[in-house]
Amino acid sequence: MTGDPVVSDRDPIPAPADPIPTPSSPPPDIVRCASLELVVTDLAAARRFYVDVLGLVVTDEDETTVWLRTFDEFIHHNLVLRTGPVPAAAAFSYRVRTPEDLDRAVAFYTELGCRVERRSDGFTKGVGDTVRVEDPLGFPLEFFHDVEHVERLAWRYDLQPNGCLVRLDHFNQVTPDVPRAVAHMEDLGFRVTEDIQDDAGTTYAAWMRRKPTVHDTAMTGGDGPRLHHIAFATHEKHQITAICDRLGALRRSDAIERGPGRHGVSNAFYLYLRDPDGHRVEIYTQDYWTGDPDNPVVTWDVHDNQRRDWWGNPVVPSWYTEASRVLDLDGRPQPVVARTDTSEMAVTIGADGFSYTRKGDEERGFKLGHTL
Ligand SMILES: [Fe+2]
Repeated sequence: MTGDPVVSDRDPIPAPADPIPTPSSPPPDIVRCASLELVVTDLAAARRFYVDVLGLVVTDEDETTVWLRTFDEFIHHNLVLRTGPVPAAAAFSYRVRTPEDLDRAVAFYTELGCRVERRSDGFTKGVGDTVRVEDPLGFPLEFFHDVEHVERLAWRYDLQPNGCLVRLDHFNQVTPDVPRAVAHMEDLGFRVTEDIQDDAGTTYAAWMRRKPTVHDTAMTGGDGPRLHHIAFATHEKHQITAICDRLGALRRSDAIERGPGRHGVSNAFYLYLRDPDGHRVEIYTQDYWTGDPDNPVVTWDVHDNQRRDWWGNPVVPSWYTEASRVLDLDGRPQPVVARTDTSEMAVTIGADGFSYTRKGDEERGFKLGHTL
């Protein structure tokens, strides 16, 4: 990690010690992250949070399931809430470019020895031929191409709340071995846009994209596989403060876990919420274009106090430690494997409080360690 100011050119993420084999079959051409299926224990409470408080649009619903979408969306759903016994993520869903990409997904994961299921009528309403897999990292992924188009409500300003959620922006996944996860996701066609490392060769997190934004998903180091969060975008950052104001007015400030603030990584404005089951939801806006083939990768020093919050505000410990379980294709929670690499929380807000704002300044640069 060289360079001052804090953002440096890329230091490549070290090769994994225990790599997942690269299939000879080409990966499916993934367009974007498209939806997440969440299991919730109290569907009525979850519906109140996502619909009445956050303002997502109900495309369809029945006794056990609610299909929700954002205001700029034209596909059937970006979030599926399904009632079940254990709060968990049941499917991270990606849209692929062509129907043939589903054949590629089957071949890619079959070669890796993964469990693969395909349903010509889809696993959820509004989506056609669908492939679901348990990926080598333990996450349940879904791939689809055909969708039912629904009304795009982008122009329906008469319906939009202040703080209108307009797109699904990204997932964030917790995984114990970040270099191993990154190498596998690169095999799947993802590219790193930003990462957090240290001088000792440890990688703490990486942001990876298909669409030309900072990410479709991030790989965050920790006990996993778990879902760290799902993120929805607003158009403007003041709309995020409007959501905070609304939560305050509803006496639901307890739903605010972290922020609002400005990220260092991604440069986006952010807010983290917890839903009634504890699933973490980020509201996110105004990151940057990454679609050029030579888009520079940004590597942050884990001790840079502005990487997670550009203003140097502390990251609450729950943000580092808590996350949602993920399910296998039978609906059982996947076992969680402990991270053995150094933890970001331990090195940044551990007993020594070692977290500097200006590299080399260990006298005045501290903030985090003094705050907590
Ligand atoms: Fe995020």
